[in-house]
Amino acid sequence: DGNIITIPVVVHVIYSNANENISDAQILSQIKVLNDDFRRLNTDADNVWSQAADTEIQFCLATIDPNGNATNGITRKASSRTSWGTNDDMKKASQGGVNPWDTSQYLNMWVCNIGGGILGYAQFPGGSAATDGVVMGPNYFGSKNEGSGFYLSAPFDEGRTTTHEVGHFLNLRHIWGDANCGNDFVSDTPTHQTSNAGCPTGRVSCGSADMVQNYMDYTNDACMNLFTTGQKNRMRAVLETGGVRRSL
Ligand code: ARG
Ligand code: ZN
Ligand code: CA
Repeated sequence: DGNIITIPVVVHVIYSNANENISDAQILSQIKVLNDDFRRLNTDADNVWSQAADTEIQFCLATIDPNGNATNGITRKASSRTSWGTNDDMKKASQGGVNPWDTSQYLNMWVCNIGGGILGYAQFPGGSAATDGVVMGPNYFGSKNEGSGFYLSAPFDEGRTTTHEVGHFLNLRHIWGDANCGNDFVSDTPTHQTSNAGCPTGRVSCGSADMVQNYMDYTNDACMNLFTTGQKNRMRAVLETGGVRRSL
């Protein structure tokens, strides 16, 4: 394409203690990881899979808020609520959360403790505007490789949860298609029997080698390092002319 798309991001931090009120530096470390991963500038990129791609999608913290005022692209709210679940309460001021900024103009990210061992979750394209965006736990948002003193939990401390959730936000399915040898609607990713965890080697399922390094598997952050050309095309389709996220 040679046509780079930049998506403005707003990060809404909702915290019940000082750890959860992650620093601006930790937030910036996550934006750095997103840009490195989506542009294939990540230092752990390797040549194992020839279909690995630079998606030509990048991200920046918003500099103008919905009222036209200058912003650093970060909102912060203290709350007595210690876990938020996955019912989208964090996206609703009426439930103690923070309403999204215009979802046709910004990628909204909420950072709050979800609980239940859930690292993050996302809404696919085409859902309700009022709940559009991605949610990550504070201890999975940012990377230990891009600063120090951050509130992060290994082995999900290199920012790949957000890379994965933004993949969903841009229409990517899990690589195993959420079924036994299921379909992820991407032809250059191998079929997987199920999700992989940790960082397995020599894993073969559904007749060929698993791509455990794909951001849309469930492996550890340190194991992941690519999106494919097919995934790039699927993501860009929702951003380009006729796509449901074209206004971003
Ligand atoms: N469980 C989450 C989801 O399905 C995120 C998994 C992220 N994995 C990681 N290695 N950070 O959306
Ligand atoms: Zn997922
Ligand atoms: Ca596939």
